[in-house]
Amino acid sequence: MAQAPTAALECRDLAKTYYSTDPPSEVVSGIDLAVRRGEFLAVMGASGSGKSTLLYNLSGMDRPTGGRVLLEGRDLTTLDDREMSRVRLTRVGLVFQHAYFLRTLNVRDNILLPALKAAQGRRQAADAAARVDALMERFGIAHVGRHGITQVSGGQLQRASICRALACEPSVLFADEPTGALNSGMTKEVMDALTDAHTGGATIVMVTHDPACAARADRVVFLRDGRLVDSREFGAWSEEESRRREDDLVTWLREQGF
Ligand SMILES: Nc1ncnc2c1ncn2[C@@H]1O[C@H](COP(=O)(O)OP(=O)(O)OP(=O)(O)O)[C@@H](O)[C@H]1O
Ligand SMILES: [Mg+2]
Repeated sequence: MAQAPTAALECRDLAKTYYSTDPPSEVVSGIDLAVRRGEFLAVMGASGSGKSTLLYNLSGMDRPTGGRVLLEGRDLTTLDDREMSRVRLTRVGLVFQHAYFLRTLNVRDNILLPALKAAQGRRQAADAAARVDALMERFGIAHVGRHGITQVSGGQLQRASICRALACEPSVLFADEPTGALNSGMTKEVMDALTDAHTGGATIVMVTHDPACAARADRVVFLRDGRLVDSREFGAWSEEESRRREDDLVTWLREQGF
């Protein structure tokens, strides 16, 4: 019998070279990483160090030019385009700096859309709708479900993105600077939502520039010129120790030349 994979996500010797440039640019290389089920991992590094590229290649949004990516033990690099889009729809949750919602749909329908697309049959569609309503309740946006997407705050929209990402019960929730466009109050709202998702068992990989956000993670890895050069492991985050952990992280980041 096949052994159950221990990691939610794993990559081995991952590399991405863009051949559209002359000469080709090797943006990330030699990345070995394993993300445990239920782990919250933050990825930091200077602008241009390859954080987004790494995230796109781990999440199946893009294909690496070298190495392997295993999502729940399944090698994404062997999948054809059809299988890959199914994985993206059903096994991967994505949150970006901006929410990318359809203006013609209200907040709830935007959240529900991918989960409905993934559902097979009426039973699964009804389950998806129930899940979405529970998530919206949990993340405090149930009352704006019928609002248009221009009628809610940036923090509410990002919480809606998190609901949308979690609605398919993904193996991993990927977030690329989810608070990058928010003020500090909204940043806290969104980080509280991600922390709550993590406490509820979600596996999260988040790129951020903000030490206060990275301090929420179980582990922070640092990327320099496309290579993972160091990492820092924390215990479970708590409100009381957030300040101390952030200070600790800032000191470490200074040592990295960040
Ligand atoms: N499609 C592409 N074609 C060619 N080069 C690219 C492409 N996408 C990104 N790059 C280059 O790869 C490098 C890493 O980009 P990436 O967006 O991954 O960095 P990042 O760490 O996410 O930066 P930031 O913090 O500014 O978001 C940059 O030099 C960028 O110009
Ligand atoms: Mg980026």
